[in-house]
Amino acid sequence: MLLKNLRPADEYDRFASQALEPWDVLFVARIRQLARDMAPGALVDIGTATAVVPVRLAADPVFTDWRFVGLDLDETMLNGGRPRIAELGLESVIELKVGDAQNLPFADGSLAMAVSRATLHHLPDKLKSLTEMYRVLQPGGIGLVHDMRRDVSPALLEKFTQMRAAVGYPPTHVEEKVTLDEARALVAEAGLADCSAVTSPGIGLGALGFEILIRKPLPA
Ligand SMILES: C[S@@+](CC[C@H](N)C(=O)[O-])C[C@H]1O[C@@H](n2cnc3c(N)ncnc32)[C@H](O)[C@@H]1O
Repeated sequence: MLLKNLRPADEYDRFASQALEPWDVLFVARIRQLARDMAPGALVDIGTATAVVPVRLAADPVFTDWRFVGLDLDETMLNGGRPRIAELGLESVIELKVGDAQNLPFADGSLAMAVSRATLHHLPDKLKSLTEMYRVLQPGGIGLVHDMRRDVSPALLEKFTQMRAAVGYPPTHVEEKVTLDEARALVAEAGLADCSAVTSPGIGLGALGFEILIRKPLPA
């Protein structure tokens, strides 16, 4: 299955490996910062594509004894990531699973972390994807969504377009993304405003996008 505005798995993997590294570093650093004081548990990467993010996390000492699930609606994307996982001997640590971000195949309160990058904009029911993320988190668990802003600065968008072009990848479809205010409105509509923060850095490559950080409260 090839979703709207997505390239085939092999092309996406090449793009992710060659052009997204600066964002991988930011996303992985943020996840490890949030996980540092947590007990090992299960982490799902929603819309994982070829599982670049779980592979990076599994190599990080902060994630010793964690288990990872790479979830994607498109099995061909997951299949594109399997050889790398096998090559690194990570099959017992990273499970790849077909599933929908809007109807997560996990029990309530079963995961320590749920992360998702560059996937929210693909989802017809964005609100449900946020309530699903919250549902599967254990108390004290953390949800993290990073995605590109539609209201990105033209200069940064041009820089991203050039980085994509350098590896033969077409410009992004910026019109399908949400703005920072729309992301805030989604979180409020999902009833998660009290336990979430929606932010975007003012400078650097991170300013291309926004972050939704959800902290599921511990019982009182
Ligand atoms: C732009 S890619 C991002 C991949 C990866 N997270 C990254 O940052 O490189 C979006 C991914 O979301 C997946 N996707 C789209 N709709 C989905 C859904 N409803 N549930 C799960 N995954 C979905 C696509 O198949 C694709 O692999």
